[in-house]
Amino acid sequence: MREGPATAIHRADYQAPAYWIATVELCFDLDPAKTRVLNRMQLRRNPDVPAQALRLDGEELNLARVLVNGQGTSFRMDTTERGQQLVLENLPEGDEPFTLEIFTTCCPAKNTKLMGLFVSQDTFFTQCEAEGFRRITYFLDRPDVMALYTVTLRADRDKYPVLLSNGNLVEEGTLDDGRHFAKWVDPFKKPAYLFALVAGKLVAREQRIRSRAGNDHLLQIFVRRGDLDKTEHAMLSLMHSIAWDEARFGLTLDLERFMIVATSDFNMGAMENKGLNIFNTKYVLASQATATDSDFSGVESVVGHEYFHNWTGDRVTCRDWFQLSLKEGLTVFRDQEFSMDLCAEASARAVKRIEDVRVLRTVQFPEDAGPMAHPVRPDAYIEISNFYTVTIYEKGAEVVRMMQTLVGRDGFAKGMTLYFERHDGQAVTCDDFAQAIADANPQSHLAALLPQFKRWYAQAGTPRVHAAGHYDAENRSYTLTLSQSCPPTPDQPVKEPFVIPVALGLVAANGAALPLQYTVDSGETNASEALFTMTQAGHTLVFHGLDAEPVPSLLRGFSAPVILDIEYSDAQLLTLLAHDSDPFNRWEAAQRLALRHALNAVSAEGDVPAQVLDGAFVEAMRAILREPALDAAFKELVLTLPSEGYIAEQLAVVDPQRIHAVREAMRLQLAVALQPDWAAAWEASEHNGSYSPDPLSAGRRALAGLALVNLNLAAAPTGDTVWPGRTYQRFKDADNMTDRANALSALVGAGHELAKPALERFHALFTDEALVIDKWFQMQASAPDRGGDILPLVKQLMKHPDFSIQNPNRARSLVFAYCNGNPAGFHRADGAGYAFWVEQVLAMDAINPQVAARLARALDRWKKLAAPYQALAREAISRVAASTSLSNDVREVITRALA
Ligand code: PHE
Ligand code: ZN
Repeated sequence: MREGPATAIHRADYQAPAYWIATVELCFDLDPAKTRVLNRMQLRRNPDVPAQALRLDGEELNLARVLVNGQGTSFRMDTTERGQQLVLENLPEGDEPFTLEIFTTCCPAKNTKLMGLFVSQDTFFTQCEAEGFRRITYFLDRPDVMALYTVTLRADRDKYPVLLSNGNLVEEGTLDDGRHFAKWVDPFKKPAYLFALVAGKLVAREQRIRSRAGNDHLLQIFVRRGDLDKTEHAMLSLMHSIAWDEARFGLTLDLERFMIVATSDFNMGAMENKGLNIFNTKYVLASQATATDSDFSGVESVVGHEYFHNWTGDRVTCRDWFQLSLKEGLTVFRDQEFSMDLCAEASARAVKRIEDVRVLRTVQFPEDAGPMAHPVRPDAYIEISNFYTVTIYEKGAEVVRMMQTLVGRDGFAKGMTLYFERHDGQAVTCDDFAQAIADANPQSHLAALLPQFKRWYAQAGTPRVHAAGHYDAENRSYTLTLSQSCPPTPDQPVKEPFVIPVALGLVAANGAALPLQYTVDSGETNASEALFTMTQAGHTLVFHGLDAEPVPSLLRGFSAPVILDIEYSDAQLLTLLAHDSDPFNRWEAAQRLALRHALNAVSAEGDVPAQVLDGAFVEAMRAILREPALDAAFKELVLTLPSEGYIAEQLAVVDPQRIHAVREAMRLQLAVALQPDWAAAWEASEHNGSYSPDPLSAGRRALAGLALVNLNLAAAPTGDTVWPGRTYQRFKDADNMTDRANALSALVGAGHELAKPALERFHALFTDEALVIDKWFQMQASAPDRGGDILPLVKQLMKHPDFSIQNPNRARSLVFAYCNGNPAGFHRADGAGYAFWVEQVLAMDAINPQVAARLARALDRWKKLAAPYQALAREAISRVAASTSLSNDVREVITRALA
């Protein structure tokens, strides 16, 4: 182990590599205990940088031999604070290419970090992004070094019948001693992080397709034998993805063969290795019996996401890891658009948008306000794995979405085309991307404002837009002032104004849409556009020809990732909720109303009242529930109260127990007050068609699920015994996992006595389905806390024979579900939740630092906590910090938290 924490790497220090690697020939003798790797490279000096030694990254490797042009050579090992480097000083002079051969061994069986080459259920997998390739061989492990790869795999034929790597299979055959081999050639040059191999006993679902362009392709999804029946949805999603990228962006599949392989041991969701995507089983396997609707849609999104990376990531990659959002923000944007375009109905598109925004606001906004806040293009990091964040991904996607808003959908597609014309085969920067979109649209706002727009890449923190309106009856005008600000974030005390596209409309009190005729900033500009672009700290818009005070509907469709401060009256919000033509703002109006009630009750003195909500709100909710013209999915979103975490973010001082009590009171109130309507909603959702995960039917099941939750909550106070019984019956008889899991979680969430037998039955039914057992753990760990009952339960579940801290999915389903997903269970006045967290972070760090560092972030927002939580949290974080054996990953997170 090296001494002391590592220092940061800075974006400003970027230097081109001293050597280029043209070709890589890898030969693997696969063995779990000792895999031998021969790496034969063609290198040459980079003539553009001063002559210097070749420094190759390596980690946990045993070096056997180094040859230059076939001859032994002198070399040395440098141990830096970031690991080992193999240093070669005496390389041939001049620009001539030379051959470097490196022979190493490693131990995949002991690789619990799941980075580099590892074994999962007797199968070999690799994970190389961001810096895993150096755990396989010594290399220039950086994304701007792109090479052509030829890979030979050798392994025992019986144990590892399937041998896969990137590109095309060019040769295979038998060897001595029951071994066999396969040779793969990838025709595209790529950075090392996109390398992959798989070897094991797998079976494949196969599909042959012909593209629009007339090319034939073989699509394969490899899984373990028993899982083949759960791959149909992933294959359909892949076929849809291929068709969509062709239709929307003219981007075609560039490989004869495209493979997806599933593993149950994976740190992340999935990985876009060229032609050989490796997936967490969670995002491949889905069947009616084992997966919920949201699992199905997760599979669709992630299959799309990884496939879209084939162009945005693989064909054009990142120059350095500070540019991560170049591929991730863009690819999330693409997968969001893909899922939206797959929706047959406009209402379903709106639902998808609301869901995406909800994730952004409940997870990314807190990140942007906390100790780990960083720009979409960070300036410094210690451990890059810590920067695979919702800021890089989801906020990055919002930045791309704003570009599309500013240049239009067609303009954006043109910009993409120019981006690939300019940069295909290159490793580039976020600037290059923005420049291409702007250059393809010279007349656009984006082109005019590009340097300012790019502040979205440079400045961290969530901007706030403050809006205030004034109606002037005499002049029949309405004046709207918009101003922006952005709070300080670590290392960025002062922010410059952003370019903020504000989609807007005016709604009359009776719900009618009003015409838009306005002047901007003392009459300089006349406008009638429904999109106003803020560029300054403040703007004044004067709307004309209005006979009465309008209700402004601002930031429609969530046109920018900002917090909108505006003082609506309850009546105005009820108008928007009932009538806004923008579904996002309709939903948002209900959220604002609910939030208002929640915040009032949280900050009031004394016990939480039973009636937190007023009659108007309850009746508005009833009206939504009864409205026949609305989609069930939309109703479910409107009737779901803002989460405890989202409520907490609105407060300067957070008492998680108080928030929980208030939100529970609100839930109970809605459950009881709307009981007959919930019952009607449940009955209305009954239908006899066969199962399909499409948005419309999924929405119906989601609303039915919420209705069951409410009917079970209302059962105890109203003395009802029928609904819990019906719920149990639904749980037993459901023909799909969504209905079954919803019924189960309604019983568990209500703390009903039927929950126990239901949980037992559920476990017994699905003992062999790891992803379902994950749900079983998760549901219990995230159930509403009653008198501190969750922590003892979690501790007991840690001892369950099915629990394993080594498996990231299982750890997430129990430990993360508790620490991150159950605020009231976790933030205990006795500090026992935090003590548990300390133990788990330390235990996990010894096994898998990447996963541990994510868990370490559970107390990111500790500075906002009220007494006694704040002091207890600080003490817990300090106890982690006091450990002398932390990984760089956890050390970075903890150091920032204490800063
Ligand atoms: N690049 C992957 C994706 O977003 C995520 C990932 C990062 C997976 C690092 C593994 C390791 O699609
Ligand atoms: Zn990605």
